Amino acid sequence: MADEAKPPAPTGMTRVDVAGMPKLVSARFQNEDAKTLAGYEKSGGYATLRKALAMRPEDIVAEVKASNLRGRGGAGFATGVKWGFVPKDAKAVHLVCNADESEPGTCKDRELIYWDPHLLIEGMIISAHALKAVHNYIYIRGEMMREYAVLAKAVDDAYARGYLGKNILGTGIEVHLTVHRGAGAYICGEETALLNSLEGLRGQPRLKPPFPAIKGLFGNPTIVNNVETLMNIPFIVDKGGPWFAALGPGRSGGTRMLCVSGHVNKPGVWELPIGISFRQLIDEVCGGVWKGRKVKAVIPGGVSMPPLDIDELDVPIEFDALQNDERIKPVMVSPTQKFDLGGGRLLRSMAGSGGVVVLDDQTDIPQAVWRIMKFFAHESCGQCTPCREGTGWLEKVSRRVAEGAGKPADLELLASIAHGIAGNTICALGDAAAWPMLGFLTKFRADFEAKIKQKGKAA
Ligand SMILES: Cc1cc2nc3c(=O)[nH]c(=O)nc-3n(C[C@H](O)[C@H](O)[C@H](O)COP(=O)(O)O)c2cc1C
Ligand code: SF4
Repeated sequence: MADEAKPPAPTGMTRVDVAGMPKLVSARFQNEDAKTLAGYEKSGGYATLRKALAMRPEDIVAEVKASNLRGRGGAGFATGVKWGFVPKDAKAVHLVCNADESEPGTCKDRELIYWDPHLLIEGMIISAHALKAVHNYIYIRGEMMREYAVLAKAVDDAYARGYLGKNILGTGIEVHLTVHRGAGAYICGEETALLNSLEGLRGQPRLKPPFPAIKGLFGNPTIVNNVETLMNIPFIVDKGGPWFAALGPGRSGGTRMLCVSGHVNKPGVWELPIGISFRQLIDEVCGGVWKGRKVKAVIPGGVSMPPLDIDELDVPIEFDALQNDERIKPVMVSPTQKFDLGGGRLLRSMAGSGGVVVLDDQTDIPQAVWRIMKFFAHESCGQCTPCREGTGWLEKVSRRVAEGAGKPADLELLASIAHGIAGNTICALGDAAAWPMLGFLTKFRADFEAKIKQKGKAA
């Protein structure tokens, strides 16, 4: 059935107007003129840079701390706190924008760069000033040719107008920006693999500590931040940290870009208030589940995160809620790690990178899980054994189950392989493969069992 396999084409690049909620990073979406330097300036662009250049770097860092801005790349780490780790006596500091965006389900940075390249550049210059970083980089995913062309032109124009260079706007402040294209490896989105790749080395993650804020690019303290994170900086400097903090709930300031794909009537990329629920997102923003069906599962923030089931849709889409809300059933993700509850690590879920994938009630869950495992097996950099071998085994065994050739013992086998990976690898790609495997096995076990029972009866 051809249409079963094909969700509606993404509408993309969409703004939803929610009463009382200002649009920040997506305010210039659909505005072709604003992509040019003149158009950006006409709409108020680079005014905040002038204000920021007159501020002391430490005062900008203080505003960012007060803003409760949390990294939009996946982990939700507090941006101001991360900036505060850079040693005060550092001789050279770098700021690197992570525009590698390869997490399946996530497609917001692509739109942000395409529609508002100068907002990213302005955010980076202000951030570089705050960090006293002279040589700075944007690492953009190789496949994003359209966005690279837009960004490269915008950077050239910013240099020509004196916003970048040795003596920005006559202030004596020096900031340079180089746009570097990756070659399409998911692992190069991991910040230390990204730094290796930037240095011309193989894109493999580094052991941490030391963290990049202490020892990063070329051995210098380096801050790596996501595109959306950096695009929020001008708003924080313009209106103040407390203003930004008040836009979101709890410890999460600002708004959030969410990318919705899968079985909804209106998939797309949206800037939304932090804390709307998955149910609101699906029903009110995305026009409900397609074909009048019901939700079976929701992948909350890129395929690395444990899924939610139909009873968990009223949880707010917010970093702390997804980890702590008791309406989400916990998943044992690493019995070998002796922290959290009961001698093992229990994880509810995480908000991740904002990529929400909706699966309807006719989805073949084992098949979907196999597809996810295939991705991680393909993208593992091969550096550490649990991930290199484990992701390969997850892929092979989950394929067997998905194809209706699985054995009852395969489910325990999958769980034990995933437990062997989680928490035992150099970087979080291992967890990213293990967590959804364990989450699907925990919450959708009946689907796997039904597939195994069908053995021999499958068409
Ligand atoms: C396998 C893997 C892939 C990642 N890919 C991306 C990515 O494409 N973009 C991104 O911003 N962060 C990605 N991250 C997270 C980065 O390592 C890093 O935490 C992030 O860029 C920090 O920025 P933030 O603090 O603004 O979120 C990835 C992490 C892992 C483990
Ligand atoms: S966890 Fe996987 S991707 Fe990360 S360093 Fe180890 S082998 Fe490479």
